[in-house]
Order: sequence, then C-alpha cells, then structure tokens
Amino acid sequence: MKGLERLERREKRLNKWLPPVKPRSQPIHLQLQIPDWALPFKESSRYKAAYGGRSAGKSHHFAEKAVQRMVAEPDLRVVCIREIQKSLKFSAKALLEKKIQEMGVRHLFTILTTEIRRKGGNGICIFQGMQDHTADSIKSLEGFGLAWVEEAQNLSARSLTLLRPTIRTPGSEIWFTWNPDQPTDAVDHFFRGETGVPEGAIVVSVNYDQNPLLPAESLAEMALDRQRDTDYYQHVWQGGYNIKSQLQIFGDKWRLDEFVPGSDWDGPYFGADWGFAADPTAAVKLWIYDQCLWVEYESWALQLELDQTADRWMRDLPEIEKHTVRADNSRPESISHVSQQKRDRPGIPYLVAADKWAGSVEDGIAFLRNFDKIVVHQRCTHFAEECRLYRYKTNAAGDILPAIVDKHNHAIDSARYALSPLIKSQLSGNWVGEW
Ligand SMILES: Nc1ncnc2c1ncn2[C@@H]1O[C@H](COP(=O)(O)OP(=O)(O)OP(=O)(O)O)[C@@H](O)[C@H]1O
Ligand SMILES: [Mg+2]
Repeated sequence: MKGLERLERREKRLNKWLPPVKPRSQPIHLQLQIPDWALPFKESSRYKAAYGGRSAGKSHHFAEKAVQRMVAEPDLRVVCIREIQKSLKFSAKALLEKKIQEMGVRHLFTILTTEIRRKGGNGICIFQGMQDHTADSIKSLEGFGLAWVEEAQNLSARSLTLLRPTIRTPGSEIWFTWNPDQPTDAVDHFFRGETGVPEGAIVVSVNYDQNPLLPAESLAEMALDRQRDTDYYQHVWQGGYNIKSQLQIFGDKWRLDEFVPGSDWDGPYFGADWGFAADPTAAVKLWIYDQCLWVEYESWALQLELDQTADRWMRDLPEIEKHTVRADNSRPESISHVSQQKRDRPGIPYLVAADKWAGSVEDGIAFLRNFDKIVVHQRCTHFAEECRLYRYKTNAAGDILPAIVDKHNHAIDSARYALSPLIKSQLSGNWVGEW
C-alpha cells in the first residue's frame, strides 16, 4: 500500500513538470444547407468541378464545404489555389473567415495573416498562386488532402499538370470552380473535352437561377444584361463560352425573346436532323414574320430510339403530326420508320426528305443570315447555344477562313431543312414571297 502511494506521489510530482497535453478535438459534424445543384458532391470523389455563370453560389458552397471538412478532420491540410495570386485580398481567405464566423466554429481556428490553423490538430489552410510555383516548389503541397482551385478558367495547362499528381494523400480531393471562358482553357479541356468527363470526376453546371440565396441586385443585373446583350448574357450569366463575335456565323443576327405567333404569321415550318452517337436528334418549329425568323419550339434528344421519336417530337413540338416535316435525307430508312404509325406508337405522317445540293449548307446559312433577326424563344436553349457557338474556321494565326466548323449545328441544320424549299426557290430567283 505504501509503495503504491509513493508511486502516485512521484507521478504527480513528475506531471507538474511535463507540458500540459493539448486536448485533441473530437471530430465534429456540421450540417450544411446544400443547394440542389450541389447534391452530387456529397459523394467523395477525386475531382469535384462546378462551372457556370455569375452568382450561382459556387464560391459560397465550396467555402462552406471546406470549413465543414476542416472542422470534421482536425488534421486536414487545405490549399486554396488561383493561377495568379498577387495578394491575399484576391483569395478565398476572407470568405473562409466569414464562413468560420457564421458557422459558429471560430473557437476551433487560429486566423493568421496568411493562413488559417485548426486548433486541436495539425490542420491548416493556405492560399497560393500557381504562377509562384516551380516544379520543385509544388512539392511543398504533397501532404495536402484538399486543393480548391477558384477561378479555374485561368489555370494554365502547365499548372493543372503540376497540381494533379501533387495532391496525392490517400482520399485527397481536388475541387474546381469557374466561369467558362474558352473551350480550349485547360480546365474545360480536362473536364468538358471531347473525351468526356474523366473517371473519378463529378462535374456540375450551375447558374444564378439555381441559387436559392441569389441577391436581388444580381437578379436585376442579370435582367439588364439579358435584355441588352444576348451574347454577353449567355457568357456571363449562363456560363456559355466567350466566343469572339467576329467568328460567329450568326453574330448579332439573333436574339432571345418570348413570343406567341400571330394568326397572320407564315408557317409553321418543321425540320429535323437525325442523331448519331454523340450527336442529338434535333427538330424545330419555325415561323416567318416581319422579315424575321421565329424559332418557337425545339426538340433535342441524345440517343433517341427511332421508335420513340414520334412521341418525343409530338411532346416537344405542338402539332408536328399535322404538318409537313422536312428531315435530313441521308437516312431514308429513319424517315420511313418514324413516319409510319404502328399499333404501339404514333407516326409523323407528313415526314419527308429535305433536298440537299452542292453548297446547300452555305446557301442555307446565307438565307438564314438574310433575315433581319432570328428570334429564338427562351425555351429553345439549344438553338440559342448553337447560334452562339456555330462559327467559321480560323487558321493558326487566328484569321477567319471562308469555311465553317462542322459542330454546334444540329438545331440549325434542322432549321435549314425546314426552310429548304424557300432556300431553293430563292436561289433560282423564283421566290417572290413577302414576309
Ligand atoms: N451559402 C450561401 N450563404 C450565403 N449567401 C449565399 C450562399 N450561396 C450564395 N449566396 C449569395 O449568392 C451570391 C452569389 O454566390 P457566390 O459568390 O458563391 O456565386 P459564384 O457562383 O461563386 O459567383 P461568381 O461566378 O460571380 O464568383 C453571394 O454573394 C451571396 O449573396
Ligand atoms: Mg465565385
């Protein structure tokens, strides 16, 4: 008994001289309000990518997620990255600090000038510009479990190549948020290129209309731009690419609007383009009035079975079954299939092949450009996207060539087919129609 007491006394004496043991934080799980667009990101994934227009809530959501992770994992090392970061003012630091306050976890962090440290663990959050890194210095980021690249449209191909293999602790994630600029930008090429979504990536597109906390000011700004400049609106608010307008075939020839066709309008004209592999089956319903072409409805479907085509078109294009529909003539068997009604499915009875001739693409484009305006109904989002993206080829010096890039033209092709008799008769000088 005596021996035990002596031992206890000795231990007490010793403890007095030992530094106090830092209490380790227990993992804490913070509940987040997750907007619907971000639900796919609840799964863990090597890459999480969210792109789109302004004020969608991308930065706020990922900032909250970063704080949630740091709270739950006291040893997590986080790096917030931009291509260029001249000053911390232009980093996510202020937003993270705000979130730490608002989420009621300020007591868990030490906020220093250049970094944020997690108390009760080795966790840290730092802010860096990729342009300040060399192939050697990037190695300082090994051991980081989370990298968040903000404004990722500015990330160079070199930076992406340096970063990806560096973030490699088990279970590490790399997040990207951006406003798309050019399809050739490294981040767009990686996540949205022709080879499709890379394995291990969750890629989400999001715009202001999916932000439940959208400020009234943003809504007003958006409405102003939508009214004044369709192209700018598509790029800034809808996350569309920023295509240089002189390259666009339809340039300022088109605009978005809402309209109801009048009883004195010429039409409707229906046209269709067959899908194949990654190309959609596209169809349109058009009108002509007041020197303008009016795109009232569109149908756009990937991998649409021929058996389902009539149903789909009847759903998307009101009254299509009562009118002549001109379709790409390269697939006569598809035309005959879809035109026939069967016991278990409807048919499109007046579906016919559209004429094609040498130069019919160029003639069709000239005809379309001849309208004062192409007015695209706001619900026809694919037609609008193609009007923006359909463009001329360029040479390596960037000069515009008198040739057309055979992309982003499915809905537009279906419009050419719809109007092919008018295009032909105008060519032969026979057309005396008045709009
Ligand atoms: N979780 C949130 N908490 C508080 N406010 C939010 C939240 N999400 C969005 N908002 C509001 O919506 C606005 C836009 O959000 P945010 O800045 O995250 O959008 P973004 O998609 O990053 O836009 P940008 O492309 O302009 O950077 C914010 O300024 C804020 O007012
Ligand atoms: Mg942002």
